[in-house]
Amino acid sequence: MTHSDPGSTTLRSRMVGGLRATDDGSELTLAGWVHRRRDLGGLVFVDLRDRSGLLQVSFGPDWTDADALERAGRLGHEDVIRVEGTVARRPEGAENPDLPTGAVELRARTLEILSDAETPAIPVYRTPEEELPAEELRLQHRHLDLRRPELQEALILRHKLILAARNYLDALGFVEVETPILTKATPEGARDYLVPSRVHKGEFYALPQSPQLYKQILMVAGFDRYFQIARCFRDEDLRADRQPEFTQIDVEASFVQPDDILAWMEGLMARLAEVAGIDAPVPFRRLAWAEAMERYGSDRPDLRIPLEIRDWSGALRSIEMGIVRSALEAGGRVRGLLLEGGARLSRKQIEAVEAEARATGAPGLLWAKRSEDGTSGPLGKFLGEAETAALGLGVGDLALAAAGPDSITGPALAAARTAAAAALEIPHRSGHSWLWVTEFPVFEEQDGVVAPSHHPFVMPHPDDIDLLETDPLAVRGTAYDLVYNGTELGSGSIRIHLPELQRRVLRVLGLSEEEIDEKFGFLLKALAAGAPPHGGIAFGMDRIAQRFIGAGSLRDVIAFPKTTAARALFEGAPTPVEGDQLEELGLAPAKPDQPGG
Ligand code: AMO
Repeated sequence: MTHSDPGSTTLRSRMVGGLRATDDGSELTLAGWVHRRRDLGGLVFVDLRDRSGLLQVSFGPDWTDADALERAGRLGHEDVIRVEGTVARRPEGAENPDLPTGAVELRARTLEILSDAETPAIPVYRTPEEELPAEELRLQHRHLDLRRPELQEALILRHKLILAARNYLDALGFVEVETPILTKATPEGARDYLVPSRVHKGEFYALPQSPQLYKQILMVAGFDRYFQIARCFRDEDLRADRQPEFTQIDVEASFVQPDDILAWMEGLMARLAEVAGIDAPVPFRRLAWAEAMERYGSDRPDLRIPLEIRDWSGALRSIEMGIVRSALEAGGRVRGLLLEGGARLSRKQIEAVEAEARATGAPGLLWAKRSEDGTSGPLGKFLGEAETAALGLGVGDLALAAAGPDSITGPALAAARTAAAAALEIPHRSGHSWLWVTEFPVFEEQDGVVAPSHHPFVMPHPDDIDLLETDPLAVRGTAYDLVYNGTELGSGSIRIHLPELQRRVLRVLGLSEEEIDEKFGFLLKALAAGAPPHGGIAFGMDRIAQRFIGAGSLRDVIAFPKTTAARALFEGAPTPVEGDQLEELGLAPAKPDQPGG
């Protein structure tokens, strides 16, 4: 927030937050909200609040009109007032070092009440010890909640990030183009929000899950470099890091390879990080997806945690433990984490780590502690000297292992890695970890069928195109994700620009020729018109703002967010719709004709 912003208008001289001792003697008209009022021996003190901060305004018999003084004594929280007066240094001992304007006050001559406020449903003024009201209550009274400086600062930083992104991309020749909100389904893996058409009964528009297809078509059209601060809509089960309606910094460019996109986007992130005062040394590390999964069990590892998954299949091949045996015989592996000094974790703490692993669907963790007396724990009991040495388990250490197929042990160990690091308070290597995870698979198995692991427009890795029909799950994509401290901030790829290859991929996904033409005919028509090789990326703007601010939830960086039940509590949405309107939209059976009608 710029405290020097004068904010001068017809009704006021400036905003309050920038006033300092050097303004002593200035004659000003100020306006804002009554944050707090105190009466003290014939004097009235009001903390006047506007977007820029707080300023003490004092009313006293020696400098305030009698009538104004009397009205000042009756001011209530959140009344909107306008005062005229003189800036004065506060008397010695009355300064407030905790307030940027704390060296001065405005001695008010006049008081005009611009607007009376009802008693606020949730307090805007709180002492530092007072907790925030419950979030549901705050969302119901968002107009008051948004008066909180934390929320105002968050939204102002968000604005600055968006502005910086626009300027950065503009300087590189990217052109912002708006794409439709009433559109046709774009597959990004979520359900669509549908909007019924009144004119074409029984037909629906879909709200865009992303501008993916439009940005590709803009490349076909020759725009060369596109971006958009784009609103996206996804009807999916909400989690802390998801909103049904969110904003992307959406980017696409022509005649590019991953290196071009990654270098531009590192520059973009470095610029945004600078705005937020965060370190983002470029270039960022890169890790192929398969390697990330092998070493961290996750496609978005937090590299600040200095722990890597180890393969102990060889080391534990001959122990007499049933779970290990059967996992190895079934072609699985035993993998684990070695936690130096981890033996200090209590059984309860280890069980809490194990619970995190179980939450990913794994049956549990096997663990071994080593003390001066030897090894202990469910796995420890089975370890001889040779195995203890092969694991590298020293005195005071803890081994956490999982046995089974990689698809089970990977997520379990990824969860254990984060939970164990937290339990052991393992110091993070540095404050910020920036990572590109590259070469994501093009497909994944979902409920026994081949599905896109992202969206179906990702260009397969040139070396893997021959595997499309024979071994689709092994096909790597020219896809990349940006991971910041363990959160996926953005995701992109080089796209398929050849219509025949696009058809092949859609066929691998089980679509018939008719379905391909019906759903993606417009894309294929465009690709057949001479499409440049192209690629891009989209970042979650809300996630960037949340992570950069260190806010607890996406809701703290969105002015009017939805709850996890996808409700807007302030304005009250969604709402039921009257029968007439449903009928007009063709969503309800038409009423029988009125007699004589
Ligand atoms: P993707 O679906 O990975 O890619 O989305 C890109 C980024 O958008 C953010 N994001 C969300 N943020 C808040 N709430 C949500 N529900 C939500 N869903 C996604 C994430 C994510 O990394 N068209 C492709 C991009 C491309 O290929 O260019 C796409 O939308 O930060």
